[in-house]
Amino acid sequence: MPPFSGPDIRLTTALRDWFARQSARNGIPSTLKEFLSVAWEFLRDSLPARRRQRYGDMDYDWDHRVDTTGATVGWRDRLLGLLHSPYQPTDPPLFQEMLATLKIDFRDFIFIDIGSGKGRTLLMASDYPFRRIVGVELLPELNRVARENIRKYRSDSQRCLAIESICGDAREFVFPPEPTVLYLFNPLPEPGLVQLIANLEQSLREHPRPLFVLYHNPVLEHVLADGKWLKKIGGTHQYSMFRSSRKTDNE
Ligand SMILES: C[S@@+](CC[C@H](N)C(=O)[O-])C[C@H]1O[C@@H](n2cnc3c(N)ncnc32)[C@H](O)[C@@H]1O
Repeated sequence: MPPFSGPDIRLTTALRDWFARQSARNGIPSTLKEFLSVAWEFLRDSLPARRRQRYGDMDYDWDHRVDTTGATVGWRDRLLGLLHSPYQPTDPPLFQEMLATLKIDFRDFIFIDIGSGKGRTLLMASDYPFRRIVGVELLPELNRVARENIRKYRSDSQRCLAIESICGDAREFVFPPEPTVLYLFNPLPEPGLVQLIANLEQSLREHPRPLFVLYHNPVLEHVLADGKWLKKIGGTHQYSMFRSSRKTDNE
């Protein structure tokens, strides 16, 4: 795999890029309005009641002695999150439900989480016998915590020990040419997701292979459905499941 180095995420650069992106798409007046709503959301999110609410997702961390909660993310990463996509970890029972509906032999697949945050899904996926597990996270501090979690995680049910968390922009990620279960929990705004899915299609064209996509909270589902090469095979109001309809060498 070519090197994929961690980005230098500065708040001022992120704000400038966000303004440039939004105003090119929506014009300056609506970008200013949107900025006020981001600032308002950030302030609301900093209130004690909201902070207490975020501690509601701590059970997984208590059980496994790790730090994957959204409650302890610092103000800088919360603000960066609002400009990209805020960190929120996946609920364990929902994750188990999604994997249970995938009727595959996990030993044939790698698991990739795009926008892996503090790495909760990487730890949860390691309870299944995947070939290996890869996370891609934009924010260096979240990635640092994910690596620490991977180092500390111990569970009698753990079946995969080959876990890595890479710091980088998912839009530049080069997909490994292996059968893949791809996990998405709203990592990117629409233009970024369009680019990611185009890269994925290109990778499948070059290296045909089985691919499943688990899309949690599928607010931009049409981006996956539009290309026609991904076929929706299941889901609920909480997630959608797709598989590649491209033939592989074995089909
Ligand atoms: C909703 S959280 C999902 C966390 C994790 N996948 C889970 O389910 O527990 C979305 C994550 O995507 C990350 N993210 C946002 N833009 C990204 C990008 N361009 N490349 C990689 N990660 C990104 C955010 O920092 C955040 O951690």
